[in-house]
Amino acid sequence: MSEKDQTVTAVDNALDANAGKEGALLPILHHIQDAIGYVPEDGIERIGKSLGLSRAEVHGVISFYHHFRTSPPGKKVIQVCRSEACKSMGGDAVAEALKTKLGIDFHQTSSDGEYSLEAVYCLGHCACAPALMVNDVPLARVTASRVDEVIAMGEI
Ligand code: FES
Repeated sequence: MSEKDQTVTAVDNALDANAGKEGALLPILHHIQDAIGYVPEDGIERIGKSLGLSRAEVHGVISFYHHFRTSPPGKKVIQVCRSEACKSMGGDAVAEALKTKLGIDFHQTSSDGEYSLEAVYCLGHCACAPALMVNDVPLARVTASRVDEVIAMGEI
């Protein structure tokens, strides 16, 4: 199935699964992103029409929640906890080291399509701060000085 067909199918499935439900926009967006990793720009108008919303209204919700992206993610999605327990244990330095190493900021994907860097607010691993999640695999007690090592080890 082509990428275009996949995106159309993901939008169709999300609209079907949430047809007639109150407050369906967020569940639809989650459904699509869970299926293909992002909410395609060319599906936004169709989503809006099905809910009686304008394209701008749907876009507004997508851009409000950093969780949603409108382009395909990198092969490895690195979620960096930005909440207090992780920040107090050096999370800011880890985030800066990752940005420098990967050459991208939060909510960006590297030009080679390998990495996306996401800021999240508590991964539920506060006792192991600073915590990261790479493609849903948690990494504990990551220090700025370990970022090169962790990448070299293939953990990221
Ligand atoms: S504060 Fe970072 S995992 Fe909870």
